[in-house]
Amino acid sequence: MTQTTRLDDISNGFQAAKILLAAAELRLFDLLHGAGAPVEEIAHKTGGSRRGLRILLDALVALQLISRDGDLYRNRPEYEPELLEDSPGHYLAMLRHRNRMFRRWARLEEIVMGGEAPAGEVLAERGANRDFIRAMYAASHRRAVTLVDRLDLEPVRTVADLGGGPGVYLQEIARRRPQAELFLVDLPITLEVARELLSRSEAGRRIRAVAWDLYAAPAPEELPPLDLALLSNVVHGESPEGNRRLFAKLFDRMAPGGRLVVAENVVDEGRTSPPGAALFAVNMLAMTSAGRTYTEEEILDWGRAVGFGAEPGESIDERTRLVRLRRPVE
Ligand SMILES: C[S@@+](CC[C@H](N)C(=O)[O-])C[C@H]1O[C@@H](n2cnc3c(N)ncnc32)[C@H](O)[C@@H]1O
Repeated sequence: MTQTTRLDDISNGFQAAKILLAAAELRLFDLLHGAGAPVEEIAHKTGGSRRGLRILLDALVALQLISRDGDLYRNRPEYEPELLEDSPGHYLAMLRHRNRMFRRWARLEEIVMGGEAPAGEVLAERGANRDFIRAMYAASHRRAVTLVDRLDLEPVRTVADLGGGPGVYLQEIARRRPQAELFLVDLPITLEVARELLSRSEAGRRIRAVAWDLYAAPAPEELPPLDLALLSNVVHGESPEGNRRLFAKLFDRMAPGGRLVVAENVVDEGRTSPPGAALFAVNMLAMTSAGRTYTEEEILDWGRAVGFGAEPGESIDERTRLVRLRRPVE
């Protein structure tokens, strides 16, 4: 591959991405469900331009995300579970979330020069947060079994998933530890969505939702001393100082011998690899005022500074490392 080809590939990558994101935002896949539809029908139902829709639909055909037979555009059956609003665990929430990210990324030069994302939390808005949590639901399902396999659950009676979002990991723990007390801790706006998702399964209904702004408030009294606390994909959204303060609060909430497991997209010491973690830091720059990706040592240091002991970590997939801390038995 020549340098120009590589520059071409990287700089043009946004086109295919934005075609898919626009189609998801416009709910085109729902409109093509069943017998499919010609462009006139889609234009009529959406009030959109025939020219615009035809060009976008043809590009989706070129990307092999839908098909065309004469004038009739149709979904490809293999993508329908991901792209239809009614299908359980669909991928549309992730696509809508990525479209919001895209708007921020379009201003990256400005954000880089200012050093932080523009004011106004994207996820403070209800619809945006709902999409985000549903996106996390789809993503965390894919890794829940592997992640929970790597937690030492044998002696565990009290478990909290902090910033647990849709509560998928806790449901997996609930199935394996029928006697354990389980707490899903998150912001009220997220718990609204989580309660809805948890109410669908017996394991989910055993989980108690606890509202706690981890970074702004003391731990709520209703949380008992914890044998296990999971903090998955949370610390990358905050500053090192904020995380250090959080770890001090968590130390006080752990039972003697209790474990704090941080699951994160950890970056290597040089902060340039793995590439996914280095690029993810840019996403945190675009979306938050102080977040980035952290090294395992940085995370362990926040814990050691407040009294935790470090235990060996491990990678469970290409973007998730488990960093382990334990409160000494005393
Ligand atoms: C990237 S999601 C991760 C969700 C889940 N832990 C997972 O790994 O799939 C971040 C979660 O942290 C929660 N969160 C962010 N800031 C928080 C805060 N200050 N207090 C409590 N939860 C917070 C969000 O609501 C969201 O559920």
